[in-house]
Amino acid sequence: MSNTPKKTVTITDNATGKSAEFPVLAGSIGPEVIDIRALHPQLGYFTFDPGFMATGSCESSITYIDGDEGVLLHRGYKIADLAEQSDFLEVCYLLLNGELPNAGQKQEFDHAITYHTMVHEQMQFFLRGFRRDAHPMAVMCGLVGAMSAFYHDSTDIHDPQQRMIAAHRLIAKMPTLAAMAYKYSVGQPTVYPSNDLSYAQNFLRMLFAVPCETWKDNPVLSRAMDRILILHADHEQNASTSTVRLSGSSGANPFACIAAGIASLWGPAHGGANEAVLTMLQQIGHKNNIPEFVKRAKDKNDSFRLMGFGHRVYKNYDPRAKVMQDTCREVLGTLGIKDPLLDLAMELERIALEDEYFVDRKLYPNVDFYSGIILRAMGFPTSMFTVLFAVARTVGWISQWKEMIEDPAQKIGRPRQLYTGPVERPFVPLAKRG
Ligand code: CMC
Repeated sequence: MSNTPKKTVTITDNATGKSAEFPVLAGSIGPEVIDIRALHPQLGYFTFDPGFMATGSCESSITYIDGDEGVLLHRGYKIADLAEQSDFLEVCYLLLNGELPNAGQKQEFDHAITYHTMVHEQMQFFLRGFRRDAHPMAVMCGLVGAMSAFYHDSTDIHDPQQRMIAAHRLIAKMPTLAAMAYKYSVGQPTVYPSNDLSYAQNFLRMLFAVPCETWKDNPVLSRAMDRILILHADHEQNASTSTVRLSGSSGANPFACIAAGIASLWGPAHGGANEAVLTMLQQIGHKNNIPEFVKRAKDKNDSFRLMGFGHRVYKNYDPRAKVMQDTCREVLGTLGIKDPLLDLAMELERIALEDEYFVDRKLYPNVDFYSGIILRAMGFPTSMFTVLFAVARTVGWISQWKEMIEDPAQKIGRPRQLYTGPVERPFVPLAKRG
């Protein structure tokens, strides 16, 4: 730990009168944490915190969120500044290495990523084993997991060079795999990567180019794609990142860990929300129906929730949602699209933000509320929304995985539990069971 504790907290067991003192650790910003690792040896208790409501699972210097103020910093830089002034590969370098690159480092890094975009040709045959109607997230779990079977020279987690190569490979190859999954689902030929293009341009070309037509870059769309990638690049210890860390804590190889992260991201409470927002807006259909759906979202007996609303950490406007809303207007303006779903989304946001239920619970739009509308305008089918999130989040996952492996205090993640099952009892032979 980088902390030298100055404060302590004393816990007293009222039943036994026994007390123990625990160090309080301070980060650079954010709430201090009580280091309770010695709680069990000292007082004989474990803590109970399902869902990690108040539990820090690791020390990290990558991303900071102040949920009350709506602040998101990567290595100290505000997300809005990065989205405005940086580009995705620069943000990748920052997350992986801790600092923004200088001109030479940037050129070298862009080259390292750009020139590793191709995947082993045999991946094509592996891909063809999937049903054509498979959800692309199912395909991504498989393809990324399979990378560990293709790239043996970057699975030794104890070799820093191999760790970095694995990180570069994952960042470089994710768009290629995502585009392959998409092309396969629509029955079009795979478009191979083009290393003359930027990361975002190359991704869009692999997705939307067809051999019989010349693909042309639309700078507003490639800039929007770059910005969407930046906005999703990392987000502290969310469910998928924690899944990657927990998988990696056992010493599993990085490709397997990222595949685990993709599986976790798929859920509608996490990365699957962007797909769910669009489905919800289509279901609402018209502004006149908003009150009925808002009423349902508030009803505890109804499982319906306003998708794209609320967040475990943000109790204020998600700073990513603001940039996303501006990008949404820009993209729709450029494409000359008047999407009634955008008007519907804005009206839904207005009504919810004036509603006591959402105000009291501090439920604001999150990053997923507007991203689906932009992606739809750009030509992405709904099933690809979460795949795009996975492409962008790969750098966050691998940076957090690398940080964990490089932490000398790293241990296998092994939560405890509150057991409520039967106590020890004698085995009853089958013939004697009632
Ligand atoms: N619609 C209606 N009520 C909600 C919503 C919602 N979207 N979100 C939370 N609530 C209510 C919830 O019912 C609870 O009410 P009460 O206190 O009366 O029981 C209260 O607000 C607190 O909610 P919670 O479920 O205890 O909060 P959580 O931190 O466990 O869940 C969440 C966070 C993101 C899973 C949840 O807000 C949600 O399901 N939102 C919709 C899905 C979504 O948009 N997810 C994307 C998150 S951002 C991108 C990402 O990180 O992947």
